[in-house]
Amino acid sequence: MITVIETIEEMQAYSARARRDGKRIALVPTMGALHEGHLTLMREAKQRADLVVASIFVNPTQFGPHEDFSNYPREKESDCQKAKNAGVDAIFYPAPTEMYPDGYATYIHVEGITAKLCGLTRPGHFKGVATVVAKLLNIVKPDIAVFGQKDAQQVLVLKRMVQDLNMDVKIAVLPIQRHDDGLALSSRNQYLSADERKAALVLSRSLNLAKQAVENGMRDIAQLQDKVRAEIVSEPLANIDYIEIYSYPALQEIKVLNGSALLALAVKIGQTRLIDNLILEA
Ligand code: PAF
Repeated sequence: MITVIETIEEMQAYSARARRDGKRIALVPTMGALHEGHLTLMREAKQRADLVVASIFVNPTQFGPHEDFSNYPREKESDCQKAKNAGVDAIFYPAPTEMYPDGYATYIHVEGITAKLCGLTRPGHFKGVATVVAKLLNIVKPDIAVFGQKDAQQVLVLKRMVQDLNMDVKIAVLPIQRHDDGLALSSRNQYLSADERKAALVLSRSLNLAKQAVENGMRDIAQLQDKVRAEIVSEPLANIDYIEIYSYPALQEIKVLNGSALLALAVKIGQTRLIDNLILEA
């Protein structure tokens, strides 16, 4: 049995009951169109808590005006079935007006790390993400919230928010899930035509080239970026949004790889913007 909850009041009451019963609660925030990546987060959440709540909410405040908010896949029935099979106990499925009623006016802005990567090319995106996740944490009050490393910058922004605002929750992060051919799982992969799906492999292929180059001793950041860029521009359907390498987790600019660095890509394949990333270690 899976419980589907649509109002904040009921969600808070459900969580309060669980806590009174001494249950440890995990939250897996999602925007639905669930794939194996999300389901892995849910199964892992079940290992780490007594009760798993998954939220499914296509959050309007994290989409730019010309982005895919209205086209974003909404698959309530099949999502609920998949979540149930992954061990989720309750789905929080609020309407946009439930989360952002008339007069809504409060947003969270995490400074610094949001001024680069997706924060630059998707202005306002992380303000929307931080705000909705803060609201979800306040509504569900989980002990632990589970996210995927595919959104590496999102994870850093949320960890910063939780630390800075003294939120009493542990953020757990699980590795990127990939198809056998390397493509990172994403709800947006379903926008790709057959040709675009093949072209999209250029993201993981270029990350692997950088990884090999580091293994062979390359340390110069500009050279590593050039290597990735050369591979991506060789794919006619690909348009680079950004290729960046920053120290990790601080996201500072570096010229030479020394320690951990985040190699992060955003590439448009046709009309579909995909992201992928890899932690480089030297
Ligand atoms: O990663 C996502 O799907 C979203 O950014 C999140 C964390 C559910 C917030 O809307």
